[in-house]
Amino acid sequence: MSVPQYSASFSFFSFQFPSCLFLFFIIIVAATSSSPCLANVVTNNGTRRHRQLSVDYYAKTCPSLEQLVGSVTTQQFKESPVSGPATINLFFHDCFVEGCDGSILIASKQGSKELAEKDAEVNRELRVEGFETVRKAKEAVERKCPGVVSCADILAIAARDYVHLAGGPYYQVKKGRWDGMISMASRVEPNIPHANDTVDQLIKLFNTKGLTIQDMVALSGAHSIGFAHCKHFVTRLYNYKGKGQPDPNVDPKLLNALRMYCPNYGGNMDIVAPFDATTPFVFDQAYYVNLQKKMGLLASDQALVLDPRTKPFVQEFANDKNKFFQAFAAAIDRLSLVGVKRGKKHGEKRRDCSMHS
Ligand code: HEM
Repeated sequence: MSVPQYSASFSFFSFQFPSCLFLFFIIIVAATSSSPCLANVVTNNGTRRHRQLSVDYYAKTCPSLEQLVGSVTTQQFKESPVSGPATINLFFHDCFVEGCDGSILIASKQGSKELAEKDAEVNRELRVEGFETVRKAKEAVERKCPGVVSCADILAIAARDYVHLAGGPYYQVKKGRWDGMISMASRVEPNIPHANDTVDQLIKLFNTKGLTIQDMVALSGAHSIGFAHCKHFVTRLYNYKGKGQPDPNVDPKLLNALRMYCPNYGGNMDIVAPFDATTPFVFDQAYYVNLQKKMGLLASDQALVLDPRTKPFVQEFANDKNKFFQAFAAAIDRLSLVGVKRGKKHGEKRRDCSMHS
């Protein structure tokens, strides 16, 4: 087993898998752990959509915004590629709780009764690299255009940059979000999907955000990059649904490989495995191809190929990368409009993204 250096923060293992050289990463990481304004439109499922966000929103007030954020994301991606999945996941968790309003970036106040979103249990796993990307990008932007650009917009742009840097589609980001004034840990749990959710539960949750089944399957393609801690899939390896057997929908070789690193009891809580065991740093359609081979990591990933409502999209995206990219770009555009805030009455422009202004 060779252990080449990839970056100082993690080890890289490779071994023979099926017949070809199969690269498998196991990374040990420190666990890091409104009311609508006039322009908002309330859709029939209760989510708020904003019509006035625009691609050139900062054309006059901060024309170099995208380059400023881009210089940070490019550098971060070189130094620490996990910044990509970390930031994309951060963006998703931001949008699903209180909307895409940077509320996930707020730090809990000492002595306050209610913790901020960031400190909800499921968010404690979010990697620090995502927060660092936004912090650094915001600093660069504040130097050039003080007090103008919201943290929420910076997060949306950074997530797009990383999708593209990892080999995924480039899409235009609409801007004009204001930062939210509410960040409560108690709002997180019911709004974030879980690895053991059924397809029914997932469809319902995405629907409450105004997202379709196709959007959900396309957005799940973000699991083409990134990693998950053992606790999210360990029951699949040993005692699926309490039956004392592994999940029959895990490929036997993947099962053995995952069992090596994720023991049933007493394993290292910081160990993570890649969602896409073939190309974990490349944003491509391999995630869907792998689902067809029983090589999904989470039960919720694998379930997408088992349910007749989601399976046709998995097949379509597995067969056609362009279709996946188009659907992903359209879906993340819709995601990025969820619960957007505008104006002083409902939002703020923070200078330090971790503190209300
Ligand atoms: C469909 C329902 C989804 C479920 C059940 C789910 C669940 C999870 C779980 C359990 C993890 C691992 C967390 C950890 O161990 O640190 C994770 C990671 C991740 N998720 Fe999802 N997720 C879903 C949808 C999405 C969506 C819509 C996106 C983005 C558009 C996304 C992007 C990511 C990324 C990029 C990572 C890797 C993070 C990293 O490596 O730092 N997920 N997800």
